[in-house]
Amino acid sequence: SLPSSVRIVEVGPRDGLQNEPGDIIATAVKVELINRLADAGLSYVEAASFVSPKWVPQMGDAAAVLAGINRKPGVTYAALTPNLRGLEGAIEAKADEVAVFSASSEAFTQKNINCSIKESLERFLPVIETAKEHGIRVRGYVSTVLGCPYDGEIAPAQVAAVCRDMLDMGCYEISLGDTVGVGTPLKAKKMLEAVAKEVPVEKLAAHFHDTYGQALANIYAVVEEGVAVIDTSVAGLGGCPYAQGASGNVATEDVLYMLNGLGIETGIDLNKLVQTSHWITGQLGRSNGSKVALAIGCE
Ligand code: HMG
Ligand code: MG
Repeated sequence: SLPSSVRIVEVGPRDGLQNEPGDIIATAVKVELINRLADAGLSYVEAASFVSPKWVPQMGDAAAVLAGINRKPGVTYAALTPNLRGLEGAIEAKADEVAVFSASSEAFTQKNINCSIKESLERFLPVIETAKEHGIRVRGYVSTVLGCPYDGEIAPAQVAAVCRDMLDMGCYEISLGDTVGVGTPLKAKKMLEAVAKEVPVEKLAAHFHDTYGQALANIYAVVEEGVAVIDTSVAGLGGCPYAQGASGNVATEDVLYMLNGLGIETGIDLNKLVQTSHWITGQLGRSNGSKVALAIGCE
Protein backbone atom coordinates (compact mmCIF):
# COMPACT_ATOMS: atom_id res chain seq x y z
CA SER A 1 0.00 0.00 0.00
CA LEU A 2 1.12 3.58 -0.62
CA PRO A 3 2.03 6.08 2.13
CA SER A 4 -0.22 9.12 2.64
CA SER A 5 2.75 11.47 2.66
CA VAL A 6 6.37 11.41 1.52
CA ARG A 7 9.32 13.52 2.64
CA ILE A 8 11.40 14.82 -0.24
CA VAL A 9 15.10 15.37 0.44
CA GLU A 10 16.26 17.95 -2.09
CA VAL A 11 19.89 17.21 -2.97
CA GLY A 12 20.22 19.52 -5.99
CA PRO A 13 22.47 22.15 -4.36
CA ARG A 14 24.89 19.38 -3.34
CA ASP A 15 24.58 16.25 -5.51
CA GLY A 16 23.28 18.38 -8.37
CA LEU A 17 26.06 20.95 -8.42
CA GLN A 18 29.11 19.03 -7.13
CA ASN A 19 29.95 17.65 -10.55
CA GLU A 20 29.00 20.63 -12.72
CA PRO A 21 31.74 21.03 -15.33
CA GLY A 22 33.24 24.37 -16.29
CA ASP A 23 33.55 27.40 -14.07
CA ILE A 24 32.99 27.30 -10.33
CA ILE A 25 29.36 28.26 -9.71
CA ALA A 26 29.06 31.54 -7.82
CA THR A 27 28.20 31.27 -4.13
CA ALA A 28 25.33 33.74 -4.68
CA VAL A 29 23.73 31.40 -7.23
CA LYS A 30 23.92 28.46 -4.80
CA VAL A 31 22.45 30.61 -2.03
CA GLU A 32 19.58 31.78 -4.22
CA LEU A 33 18.89 28.22 -5.35
CA ILE A 34 18.62 27.01 -1.75
CA ASN A 35 16.40 29.96 -0.77
CA ARG A 36 14.10 29.36 -3.75
CA LEU A 37 13.83 25.65 -2.98
CA ALA A 38 12.84 26.36 0.61
CA ASP A 39 10.33 28.92 -0.66
CA ALA A 40 8.81 26.27 -2.96
CA GLY A 41 8.08 24.16 0.12
CA LEU A 42 11.04 21.82 0.30
CA SER A 43 11.52 21.09 4.01
CA TYR A 44 14.91 19.40 3.68
CA VAL A 45 17.69 20.80 1.52
CA GLU A 46 21.14 19.27 1.32
CA ALA A 47 22.95 22.54 0.91
CA ALA A 48 26.69 21.82 0.82
CA SER A 49 29.52 19.40 1.26
CA PHE A 50 32.50 19.75 3.59
CA VAL A 51 34.85 17.62 1.53
CA SER A 52 38.29 18.25 0.13
CA PRO A 53 38.08 21.07 -2.45
CA LYS A 54 40.82 19.27 -4.37
CA TRP A 55 38.47 16.34 -4.82
CA VAL A 56 35.28 18.33 -5.39
CA PRO A 57 36.08 21.95 -6.32
CA GLN A 58 32.41 22.96 -6.79
CA MET A 59 31.76 22.45 -3.05
CA GLY A 60 34.74 24.54 -1.92
CA ASP A 61 32.51 27.39 -0.68
CA ALA A 62 30.36 25.28 1.67
CA ALA A 63 30.84 27.58 4.66
CA ALA A 64 30.01 30.70 2.64
CA VAL A 65 26.89 29.04 1.22
CA LEU A 66 25.56 28.15 4.66
CA ALA A 67 26.41 31.64 5.94
CA GLY A 68 24.56 33.25 3.03
CA ILE A 69 21.17 31.51 3.07
CA ASN A 70 18.00 32.76 4.72
CA ARG A 71 17.07 30.06 7.18
CA LYS A 72 13.39 29.41 6.83
CA PRO A 73 11.85 28.02 10.02
CA GLY A 74 10.97 24.35 9.70
CA VAL A 75 13.53 23.72 6.96
CA THR A 76 16.51 21.45 7.59
CA TYR A 77 19.73 22.57 5.88
CA ALA A 78 22.12 19.63 5.71
CA ALA A 79 25.71 19.01 4.66
CA LEU A 80 27.92 16.08 3.72
CA THR A 81 30.82 15.35 6.07
CA PRO A 82 33.25 12.55 5.15
CA ASN A 83 35.48 12.95 8.20
CA LEU A 84 35.95 14.88 11.47
CA ARG A 85 37.46 17.83 9.65
CA GLY A 86 34.33 18.07 7.53
CA LEU A 87 32.12 17.79 10.59
CA GLU A 88 33.97 20.60 12.34
CA GLY A 89 33.35 22.81 9.31
CA ALA A 90 29.68 21.85 9.25
CA ILE A 91 29.25 22.59 12.97
CA GLU A 92 30.93 25.95 12.61
CA ALA A 93 28.70 26.76 9.64
CA LYS A 94 25.63 25.71 11.66
CA ALA A 95 24.44 22.90 9.42
CA ASP A 96 21.25 21.47 10.95
CA GLU A 97 22.15 17.92 10.01
CA VAL A 98 25.08 16.11 8.44
CA ALA A 99 25.54 12.99 6.36
CA VAL A 100 28.30 10.41 6.12
CA PHE A 101 28.69 8.35 2.97
CA SER A 102 30.01 4.94 2.08
CA ALA A 103 29.09 2.32 -0.51
CA SER A 104 28.24 -1.32 -0.89
CA SER A 105 31.11 -1.71 -3.35
CA GLU A 106 34.80 -1.65 -2.42
CA ALA A 107 35.99 -0.20 -5.72
CA PHE A 108 33.55 2.72 -5.60
CA THR A 109 34.46 3.50 -2.00
CA GLN A 110 38.15 3.64 -2.95
CA LYS A 111 37.50 6.00 -5.85
CA ASN A 112 35.07 8.19 -3.93
CA ILE A 113 36.64 8.55 -0.50
CA ASN A 114 40.01 6.84 -0.90
CA CYS A 115 39.56 4.03 1.63
CA SER A 116 37.91 0.64 2.11
CA ILE A 117 34.32 0.24 3.29
CA LYS A 118 35.58 -0.93 6.69
CA GLU A 119 37.93 2.04 6.99
CA SER A 120 35.14 4.41 6.00
CA LEU A 121 32.93 3.08 8.78
CA GLU A 122 35.79 3.43 11.28
CA ARG A 123 36.24 7.02 10.13
CA PHE A 124 32.52 7.73 10.60
CA LEU A 125 32.41 6.54 14.22
CA PRO A 126 34.00 9.68 15.71
CA VAL A 127 32.04 11.83 13.24
CA ILE A 128 28.76 10.37 14.47
CA GLU A 129 29.82 10.53 18.15
CA THR A 130 30.87 14.18 17.88
CA ALA A 131 27.78 15.14 15.91
CA LYS A 132 25.61 13.58 18.63
CA GLU A 133 27.44 15.57 21.32
CA HIS A 134 26.41 18.68 19.39
CA GLY A 135 22.83 17.51 19.01
CA ILE A 136 23.24 17.06 15.24
CA ARG A 137 21.53 14.12 13.57
CA VAL A 138 23.51 12.06 11.09
CA ARG A 139 22.14 10.58 7.91
CA GLY A 140 23.96 7.72 6.19
CA TYR A 141 24.35 7.20 2.47
CA VAL A 142 25.14 3.85 0.95
CA SER A 143 26.08 4.13 -2.73
CA THR A 144 26.00 1.60 -5.58
CA VAL A 145 23.10 -0.39 -4.09
CA LEU A 146 21.83 -1.51 -7.51
CA GLY A 147 25.17 -1.88 -9.25
CA CYS A 148 28.66 -0.42 -9.38
CA PRO A 149 30.49 1.07 -12.38
CA TYR A 150 33.62 -0.86 -11.37
CA ASP A 151 32.43 -3.97 -9.50
CA GLY A 152 29.25 -4.60 -11.52
CA GLU A 153 26.50 -6.53 -9.74
CA ILE A 154 26.20 -6.02 -5.99
CA ALA A 155 24.58 -8.71 -3.83
CA PRO A 156 21.57 -7.36 -1.89
CA ALA A 157 22.96 -9.05 1.25
CA GLN A 158 26.10 -6.93 0.97
CA VAL A 159 24.02 -3.76 0.69
CA ALA A 160 22.02 -4.85 3.72
CA ALA A 161 25.17 -5.49 5.78
CA VAL A 162 26.60 -1.99 5.18
CA CYS A 163 23.22 -0.38 5.88
CA ARG A 164 22.94 -2.32 9.12
CA ASP A 165 26.43 -1.24 10.21
CA MET A 166 25.63 2.41 9.56
CA LEU A 167 22.35 2.16 11.46
CA ASP A 168 24.09 0.45 14.40
CA MET A 169 26.70 3.21 14.43
CA GLY A 170 23.96 5.80 14.96
CA CYS A 171 22.68 7.03 11.60
CA TYR A 172 18.98 7.86 11.98
CA GLU A 173 18.22 7.15 8.34
CA ILE A 174 19.95 5.26 5.54
CA SER A 175 19.68 6.56 2.00
CA LEU A 176 20.01 3.86 -0.64
CA GLY A 177 21.93 5.22 -3.60
CA ASP A 178 21.57 3.87 -7.11
CA THR A 179 24.55 6.03 -7.89
CA VAL A 180 24.78 5.12 -11.56
CA GLY A 181 21.06 4.64 -12.17
CA VAL A 182 21.40 1.11 -13.51
CA GLY A 183 18.57 -0.41 -11.46
CA THR A 184 15.21 -1.67 -12.64
CA PRO A 185 12.03 -2.01 -10.54
CA LEU A 186 12.14 -5.69 -9.63
CA LYS A 187 15.80 -5.43 -8.75
CA ALA A 188 15.07 -2.38 -6.59
CA LYS A 189 12.30 -4.30 -4.82
CA LYS A 190 14.54 -7.30 -4.14
CA MET A 191 17.34 -5.08 -2.84
CA LEU A 192 14.86 -3.30 -0.57
CA GLU A 193 13.46 -6.58 0.74
CA ALA A 194 16.98 -7.69 1.71
CA VAL A 195 17.80 -4.37 3.38
CA ALA A 196 14.45 -4.16 5.20
CA LYS A 197 15.34 -7.37 7.03
CA GLU A 198 18.19 -5.45 8.68
CA VAL A 199 16.91 -1.86 8.78
CA PRO A 200 13.25 -0.91 9.40
CA VAL A 201 11.73 0.45 6.21
CA GLU A 202 10.73 3.68 8.05
CA LYS A 203 14.45 4.43 8.32
CA LEU A 204 15.18 3.98 4.62
CA ALA A 205 15.28 6.53 1.82
CA ALA A 206 15.55 6.04 -1.94
CA HIS A 207 18.30 8.01 -3.72
CA PHE A 208 17.97 7.01 -7.34
CA HIS A 209 19.77 8.48 -10.31
CA ASP A 210 18.09 8.49 -13.71
CA THR A 211 20.93 7.51 -16.05
CA TYR A 212 18.89 4.79 -17.77
CA GLY A 213 15.52 6.51 -17.34
CA GLN A 214 14.41 4.01 -14.69
CA ALA A 215 14.34 6.19 -11.59
CA LEU A 216 10.59 6.92 -11.42
CA ALA A 217 9.73 3.26 -11.95
CA ASN A 218 12.24 2.23 -9.30
CA ILE A 219 10.88 4.81 -6.87
CA TYR A 220 7.33 3.62 -7.40
CA ALA A 221 8.50 0.05 -6.74
CA VAL A 222 10.03 0.91 -3.35
CA VAL A 223 7.30 3.38 -2.31
CA GLU A 224 4.86 0.49 -2.73
CA GLU A 225 7.01 -1.39 -0.23
CA GLY A 226 6.79 1.41 2.35
CA VAL A 227 9.68 3.77 1.59
CA ALA A 228 8.45 7.30 2.39
CA VAL A 229 11.61 9.40 1.99
CA ILE A 230 12.88 10.18 -1.51
CA ASP A 231 16.03 12.06 -2.49
CA THR A 232 15.62 14.19 -5.61
CA SER A 233 17.37 16.98 -7.46
CA VAL A 234 15.68 20.01 -9.02
CA ALA A 235 15.89 19.90 -12.84
CA GLY A 236 17.56 16.50 -12.48
CA LEU A 237 20.84 18.29 -11.91
CA GLY A 238 23.94 16.33 -11.20
CA GLY A 239 25.97 13.25 -11.70
CA CYS A 240 28.75 11.71 -9.70
CA PRO A 241 32.44 12.51 -10.19
CA TYR A 242 33.41 8.89 -9.52
CA ALA A 243 30.73 7.15 -11.55
CA GLN A 244 31.34 7.61 -15.25
CA GLY A 245 28.25 8.41 -17.29
CA ALA A 246 26.04 8.91 -14.26
CA SER A 247 23.33 11.46 -14.98
CA GLY A 248 21.62 13.41 -12.27
CA ASN A 249 19.31 12.32 -9.53
CA VAL A 250 15.73 11.88 -10.55
CA ALA A 251 14.19 15.35 -11.00
CA THR A 252 12.26 16.69 -8.01
CA GLU A 253 9.51 17.99 -10.31
CA ASP A 254 9.02 14.59 -11.94
CA VAL A 255 8.74 12.81 -8.59
CA LEU A 256 6.39 15.50 -7.29
CA TYR A 257 4.13 15.20 -10.33
CA MET A 258 3.94 11.43 -9.83
CA LEU A 259 3.25 11.74 -6.09
CA ASN A 260 0.58 14.40 -6.71
CA GLY A 261 -1.09 12.00 -9.12
CA LEU A 262 -1.01 9.26 -6.50
CA GLY A 263 -2.58 11.61 -3.93
CA ILE A 264 0.56 11.52 -1.75
CA GLU A 265 1.25 14.73 0.23
CA THR A 266 4.65 16.48 0.11
CA GLY A 267 3.92 20.12 0.97
CA ILE A 268 5.71 21.33 -2.18
CA ASP A 269 4.35 23.87 -4.67
CA LEU A 270 4.93 22.34 -8.13
CA ASN A 271 4.72 25.60 -10.05
CA LYS A 272 7.21 27.43 -7.80
CA LEU A 273 9.53 24.45 -8.07
CA VAL A 274 9.30 24.41 -11.86
CA GLN A 275 10.10 28.13 -12.05
CA THR A 276 13.15 27.53 -9.83
CA SER A 277 14.14 24.69 -12.13
CA HIS A 278 14.07 26.96 -15.20
CA TRP A 279 15.92 29.67 -13.29
CA ILE A 280 18.81 27.41 -12.23
CA THR A 281 19.23 25.75 -15.63
CA GLY A 282 19.34 29.27 -17.11
CA GLN A 283 22.03 30.26 -14.62
CA LEU A 284 24.08 27.17 -15.43
CA GLY A 285 23.44 27.37 -19.17
CA ARG A 286 22.43 23.77 -19.34
CA SER A 287 19.37 21.88 -20.56
CA ASN A 288 16.62 20.92 -18.13
CA GLY A 289 16.61 17.26 -17.07
CA SER A 290 13.00 17.34 -15.88
CA LYS A 291 10.26 16.31 -18.30
CA VAL A 292 7.66 17.95 -16.06
CA ALA A 293 9.56 21.27 -16.05
CA LEU A 294 9.73 21.19 -19.85
CA ALA A 295 6.02 20.36 -20.13
CA ILE A 296 4.89 23.10 -17.76
CA GLY A 297 7.33 25.63 -19.17
CA CYS A 298 8.71 28.91 -17.96
CA GLU A 299 6.41 31.73 -16.85
P1 HMG B 1 42.32 11.64 1.33
O1 HMG B 1 43.23 12.23 0.32
O2 HMG B 1 42.32 10.17 1.50
O3 HMG B 1 42.51 12.23 2.78
O4 HMG B 1 40.85 12.16 1.02
P2 HMG B 1 43.51 13.18 3.48
O5 HMG B 1 43.04 13.21 4.90
O6 HMG B 1 44.90 12.75 3.17
O7 HMG B 1 43.24 14.63 2.85
C1 HMG B 1 43.66 15.04 1.57
C2 HMG B 1 43.60 16.55 1.47
O8 HMG B 1 42.25 17.01 1.66
C3 HMG B 1 44.41 17.27 2.55
O9 HMG B 1 44.81 18.50 2.00
C4 HMG B 1 43.39 17.53 3.62
O10 HMG B 1 43.74 18.61 4.42
C5 HMG B 1 42.16 17.84 2.82
P3 HMG B 1 46.33 18.73 1.47
O11 HMG B 1 47.20 18.35 2.64
O12 HMG B 1 46.49 17.78 0.29
O13 HMG B 1 46.33 20.18 1.07
N1 HMG B 1 40.91 17.48 3.51
C6 HMG B 1 39.85 18.29 3.58
N2 HMG B 1 39.62 19.53 3.11
C7 HMG B 1 38.42 20.08 3.37
N3 HMG B 1 37.43 19.43 4.03
C8 HMG B 1 37.62 18.18 4.49
C9 HMG B 1 38.88 17.57 4.29
N4 HMG B 1 39.37 16.37 4.60
C10 HMG B 1 40.62 16.34 4.12
N5 HMG B 1 36.64 17.55 5.14
C11 HMG B 1 38.55 12.60 1.57
C12 HMG B 1 39.74 11.71 1.79
C13 HMG B 1 37.32 11.91 2.12
C14 HMG B 1 38.77 13.92 2.26
C15 HMG B 1 38.41 12.84 0.05
O14 HMG B 1 38.41 11.60 -0.59
C16 HMG B 1 37.16 13.60 -0.33
O15 HMG B 1 36.97 14.74 0.03
N6 HMG B 1 36.26 12.97 -1.09
C17 HMG B 1 35.05 13.62 -1.51
C18 HMG B 1 34.19 12.67 -2.17
C19 HMG B 1 32.86 13.32 -2.53
O16 HMG B 1 32.50 14.40 -2.10
N7 HMG B 1 32.12 12.61 -3.37
C20 HMG B 1 30.85 13.05 -3.80
C21 HMG B 1 29.82 12.90 -2.72
S1 HMG B 1 29.25 11.22 -2.49
C22 HMG B 1 27.99 11.06 -3.67
O17 HMG B 1 27.80 11.91 -4.48
C23 HMG B 1 27.10 9.85 -3.58
C24 HMG B 1 25.74 10.16 -2.96
O18 HMG B 1 25.07 11.17 -3.67
C25 HMG B 1 24.88 8.90 -2.94
C26 HMG B 1 24.77 8.21 -4.30
O19 HMG B 1 24.41 8.83 -5.29
O20 HMG B 1 25.07 7.01 -4.30
C27 HMG B 1 25.91 10.64 -1.52
MG1 MG C 1 23.91 10.84 -5.57
